[in-house]
Formats: sequence, C-alpha cells, structure tokens
Amino acid sequence: MAATTTGMAVRFAPPSIGAAEIDEVVATLRSGWLTTGPRVKAFERAFAEYAGVPHALALSSCTAALHLALLVAQIGAGDEVVTTPLTFCATANTIVHAGATPRFADIDPVTWNLSPDAAADAVTSRTRAVLPVHYAGRPADTAGFRSLAALHGLVVIEDAAHCVEGVSAGAKIGSTADLTCFSFYATKNLTTGEGGMLTTRSAEWDAAARTASLHGMSHDAWARYASAAPAQYDVVLPGFKYNMMDLQAAIGLQQLATIQRRLRRREQIWRAYDEALADLPLIRPAPIASGDVHARHLYTILVDPASGWTRDGLAAALADRGVSTSIHFRAVHLHSYYRERFRLRTGMFPHAERVASQVLSLPLSPALTDEEVAHVTLAVRDLVLRRR
Ligand SMILES: Cc1ncc(COP(=O)(O)O)c(C=O)c1O
Repeated sequence: MAATTTGMAVRFAPPSIGAAEIDEVVATLRSGWLTTGPRVKAFERAFAEYAGVPHALALSSCTAALHLALLVAQIGAGDEVVTTPLTFCATANTIVHAGATPRFADIDPVTWNLSPDAAADAVTSRTRAVLPVHYAGRPADTAGFRSLAALHGLVVIEDAAHCVEGVSAGAKIGSTADLTCFSFYATKNLTTGEGGMLTTRSAEWDAAARTASLHGMSHDAWARYASAAPAQYDVVLPGFKYNMMDLQAAIGLQQLATIQRRLRRREQIWRAYDEALADLPLIRPAPIASGDVHARHLYTILVDPASGWTRDGLAAALADRGVSTSIHFRAVHLHSYYRERFRLRTGMFPHAERVASQVLSLPLSPALTDEEVAHVTLAVRDLVLRRR
C-alpha cells in the first residue's frame, strides 16, 4: 500500500496474535505431535462449551464445515437450499459441491441478512435446507428461520463465518441451528490462520462429519497412533482431508480464551466509527436488536452516490491516504458461474444488489491502534466533506 503524507498505512484486518499464541505453537512444535491430536480435541471441547452445544468438530476451513454440514444432512442431487446472495462464494459453492441447487432469496434492507419472508417465498417442493449467513457479525433472525424450517421440514444450516461471538435473541450462535459453520481464517475474529468448526446437537451428524472429514476412516490418526500397537482402520466412505492440525488448534485455544477482550476492542472501534461518521451522508450499520450480540466482524458503510462518491472512487482515494478497505461482497448470483449455470441476472435481488454495489468495509481489528482508527475516520471525513 502507498505510504501517506503522514506515513501511516492502516491494514484492513491485521490478526491480533499475542505471546500466548506464539508460546502454544512453540510448545506444540516441541511436543512431537503436529497434526490432529490432543490440542484439537481440547479446542473442540472448549469451543463446544463456549457455543453451548454438545458437539464441535474442528476442520481445515468453514468451507469444509459447510460442505460436511450439507453432506451429513443428506442434501444432494435434486435438492434445493435457500440462501443469501450477499455472502462469500463458499456459501453457495458448497451447495453446488453437495450436488444441490442454491436458491437465492433477497436480504432484509435494514439488517442485510437473509430475509425470512423472502426465504419463505423461495421455498419449493425440492427445498431441503435454509442457509442464512450472519453477515458482518450481525446475528440473522434465527427464530424466524427455525419457524420456517419447522413449517416445511427443512434443515437449518447457519454460516457463522463472521459470528463466533454472536448471540441471537439470548441464544449463543452455534446452538441455534441444526448445524453451524464457523471460520478461523486469518482475518476472522478468532483465527487459526486457516480453520473452521462445525457445531451440532446431533451426535449422529457429528460422528458422520468426523468420519467424512478424514478420508472416511473409522479411526483418526491420533486414535491410531496414541496406542503403541498398530491399529487397523476401515474406510467406510470416500471421505475428504478436512482435518485441523494441532498447530492450528494451539492458536485457536489461546484465541478463544481471550475472545471477549478482543470483542470489547472491536466494539470500541465500532463506536469510534459510528460517532465520527454520524453526520456524513453515508449509510452506517443499523443498530443491533435487543437480546442480540453482534460479533462486530466488519464495519460496513454504504457509499450512496448522494455522498458525491462512488464506492470504488472512495476506496481508491482512501488507499491513496494509506487506508486499506475491502468489499463484502460482490453478489454471488452475479458471478459468471452462477449467472450462466442457474440463469441468474441483475434485478432479481435488488436489496442485495444495492448493498453489493455500494458497500465498503473499513479497517477493523483489535490490533489497530487508536491513532490508526483516528487516521481512518479523518480520511473518510475529509474526503466526503470536500465533495459536499
Ligand atoms: C460468509 C462466509 N462464509 C464462508 C467463508 C469461508 O470461510 P473459510 O475461508 O474458512 O473457508 C467465508 C470466508 O471469508 C465467509 O466470509
């Protein structure tokens, strides 16, 4: 990124890694066990307790979790899954990997989460699941989706890539759906570099996902090598290589232990943005519903043309001042694969399309200093006010 006149370059989402994470990784390296083993088991136990759910399966990514969730729910060829177009491509790609068809439905224009009413309209006789995303860390209407699922006999799979800390109407995200998928990618609120978690109340689905996550073998490597005697295994299905390593879980265990502290810092930065941008002609994230906890993953503004800027113009001007931004997301149905394969086009989901064309995510991470946050707010204010 270009240095600014002040010399400050604000990264978009630098990871917040402390001495405890580094020490735990070093201890893992010294332990003689690098891949799936005791630290993964400990991380799964700690995460299950945190999410208030009996089963948590640590995986290589949220994408892997989404794929396995669809598979264990036996969603496949001929089935449809209703989801949001305002998401990362992995949400929809995994529906295609499972052999099913994504059926997009529009977002709520205020929360930008999948609208339960729009989702209800998209349900057909082939629909087997609804897959809401907790966009930017804001909990979706989990009760609304449970009612919809109960009415039509659907499975609820939540994409909680942005929402580790989230609470929906008093219920911890991870415990509100049939299956919930988390991401621990480098920019996420809890990171393991790459990684994911699948939570469920179902012992049967947890066991099936565990087997499918490691080649379809009847025993994982830790179970096989933990005893001195060679253990036999049977391949019961052609599974995948989706397991998490102890090296990753070492980071995850320490990140989980300090997650509330990092959330408080995210909330502080969020408030600083809210206050500094309040008088500008930009649309800021809506207030949070009572009973919900927002995970404050992404601070997203809409750059309406009334501000005198296009989204891409403002992003370029901010980059010139050393402020990195990002876009979450280009609407999935408008990517060429989805347009062509499912005959989707502009105009089908107007709320999602508006957000996708105007949204800009500002830097947000507990690793940002107050000076960096002030640099971002001053740059946005200066650029927007001079166009008024
Ligand atoms: C909404 C959403 N779902 C799924 C994913 C995929 O996560 P992962 O990179 O852990 O596979 C992402 C990644 O950024 C995401 O933003």
